[in-house]
Amino acid sequence: MPRIVRPLLASLTFLSGSLLAFAATDASDPCAKIGGLTFAAAADVIACQKSFPFNETIRQNVMATVSGVFDFYTFEDYYLNSPPPFQESTTNIPADLARLKGAHFATDYDFNLALWDFTTQLNDGHTRWFPSCYNAYQNLLPAPIVILDRGVFIVPDLVEFVPLVGSGYTDLLDSIGFNWQRLAGATVLSIAGLSPFDYIDNIATTVSGNYLDHGVRVNSVVSSYRISGTDFSQRFGDLAGPSFITQTSLTMTVIPVNSTKPESVTIPFVSAFAGNPFTDQASYWANNCAANEDTNGVDRRVSSQVTQGPLKQRLQPIAKIVDLAPKQAVGLPGPFIPTLPQVNGSTGVIKSYILDDKKTGVMFIGSFEGDFVQFQTDTVAAINQFKASGVTNLLIDITNNGGGFVCLGLFLHQYLAGSNIGYPGFQSSMRANPLAQKIVAADVAQGIDDTLAFYGANNWAFFNNTPFPADFNYMKPPAPNVVNGISDPTSQRFFDICTPFNVDVPPTPPFDLKNVAIVGNGNCASTCSLFTTLMNEKHNTRSAVFGGKPGEQVQFKGMAGNQVLEWADLDSEIKTAGVKNDPLAPPDLLVDGNMRVNWRTAWSFFDESKPIAYVSELPTFRFAYTKDTYNNPQNLWAFAAKVFFH
Ligand SMILES: *[C@@H]1O[C@H](CO)[C@@H](O)[C@H](O)[C@H]1NC(C)=O
Ligand SMILES: *[C@@H]1O[C@H](CO)[C@@H](O)[C@H](O)[C@H]1NC(C)=O
Ligand SMILES: *[C@@H]1O[C@H](CO)[C@@H](O)[C@H](O)[C@H]1NC(C)=O
Repeated sequence: MPRIVRPLLASLTFLSGSLLAFAATDASDPCAKIGGLTFAAAADVIACQKSFPFNETIRQNVMATVSGVFDFYTFEDYYLNSPPPFQESTTNIPADLARLKGAHFATDYDFNLALWDFTTQLNDGHTRWFPSCYNAYQNLLPAPIVILDRGVFIVPDLVEFVPLVGSGYTDLLDSIGFNWQRLAGATVLSIAGLSPFDYIDNIATTVSGNYLDHGVRVNSVVSSYRISGTDFSQRFGDLAGPSFITQTSLTMTVIPVNSTKPESVTIPFVSAFAGNPFTDQASYWANNCAANEDTNGVDRRVSSQVTQGPLKQRLQPIAKIVDLAPKQAVGLPGPFIPTLPQVNGSTGVIKSYILDDKKTGVMFIGSFEGDFVQFQTDTVAAINQFKASGVTNLLIDITNNGGGFVCLGLFLHQYLAGSNIGYPGFQSSMRANPLAQKIVAADVAQGIDDTLAFYGANNWAFFNNTPFPADFNYMKPPAPNVVNGISDPTSQRFFDICTPFNVDVPPTPPFDLKNVAIVGNGNCASTCSLFTTLMNEKHNTRSAVFGGKPGEQVQFKGMAGNQVLEWADLDSEIKTAGVKNDPLAPPDLLVDGNMRVNWRTAWSFFDESKPIAYVSELPTFRFAYTKDTYNNPQNLWAFAAKVFFH
């Protein structure tokens, strides 16, 4: 039976529509001052955002939803005693939720910041609270930093990079007389009174929340190259580009290029707007904070409620992190974009090249998102051209790959390893909490299948690849599972169903797997880490991680969940099963936000009792970035080809 694939993207969408031409000037309304502006002083944004009073009804509503979502969180009980090297994330989640339900907060901003910090510091990008009201701006410091082989620097390409943010940004810096250009490449001696590495660690611990491994988060703090959408881009990094506005400036001690004298410089943050247009406080709340028709889920049994596309198409599992920064992604400056000709299949999220050695093909895989079928046809096109050109080595760059469709990660693994390997994924399960058991039982009773619900039994297969029948209750009985001394039963384990793919997969590997290697910066999330972990666990594929702190290890797989449900998706599962009236079901949100959750576990082949997220897997090599590689993928690939293949 052919399965039709429909891309299903995350529910958080931000309009980038036309901005209003006039800013209102009501001095008593702190939002009127910034209404209509694309760039604003951070202090003005904070004044607007802090003008909304704390509201106990909203707090209890948000906390009821958030707490209900945590019942579905696969890793909740692991947090009680996170195993090494992931100890930093240890916390008691139920106690944290109880604290947030009772604590005093001065404003709605303060409540949301506390909840944001709590979920961020769980260090799992799949399980976070994203309040639209307070993620409507990104703070941008015109001094992103990098860790190079010789120390910590303000990015050497600052003069090429910062103008790509837009003239509104540089005009605002000019208007306050701040000379950012002279900071290009400056040596950083201290940040906010701390040594650069202590400050970087502090940001990695408190602000960079997407990865369990501290070493990986260090690379989130600093600037790096990536593909955003289908374009080359440079990240500001979390030090210079946080998504919750809390800082107005940052003081560093630096030695500028062409100087020998340390000097203290206070660098202003400027906030970039990426929310829905507004003119004043009331319209800021209405357009950016209040719940809207996409905030909560729908009953997919009622076709008029389904806005995501026609029925009778299979839902497609997603595993990705949300990096809010791409909302206003800044390009990679032209001089650093690869100059080699692109091979076929390079118009989407994959960019492929043949290096000057003529023996090494490179696939820079920016994500597993975008066009589901094109990802597969682009892979075929690139590998066919590599083969036709006599390429024998394959280098895969997954720097800053945030994940995407689960089945595309499994596809890439199977394409490289050949279909003779059989099932290309991991064993999977979800938590069998009391409400999840009621959902599956209700779905089975009503014949709800993979076109309507992810809990529908025929989404999954037995270990012999036979799909579960639609009336198979795979949570009855729940499978016993104990985590840190707590009983935490799961569903029966199962396989994903991804085949047949949209293209033919060769039976045997197109390249000797010994000649395949992976490079990245550890920021490889969700489906990306499923892919890299499969390559390591099944084929012992060699890998190199660049960057990080000298002497600190960095996992090559950033964050491995298995499948994420956005809040609206989980709520749709609950409503479609018909159990929204159950006392255990979380309420609809009264404000716009997304409490997303890692909903499935992928179990390691190295130790089938452990989620791959908690298995330490280190790269073959660690290298520092240099001034020639931190923003220059082609230089990095040439270096890596020498290390792996020559
Ligand atoms: C608090 O929020 C609720 C829900 O939006 C609203 O009905 C109520 O009027 C608010 N309370 C105050 C005091 O503003
Ligand atoms: C440093 O000096 C060189 C030579 O005068 C000049 O080309 C370069 O622009 C200067 N760099 C900075 C950041 O001022
Ligand atoms: C690249 O794609 C074009 C169009 O499909 C095809 O004609 C050409 O043979 C391909 N080139 C290589 C080297 O595979």
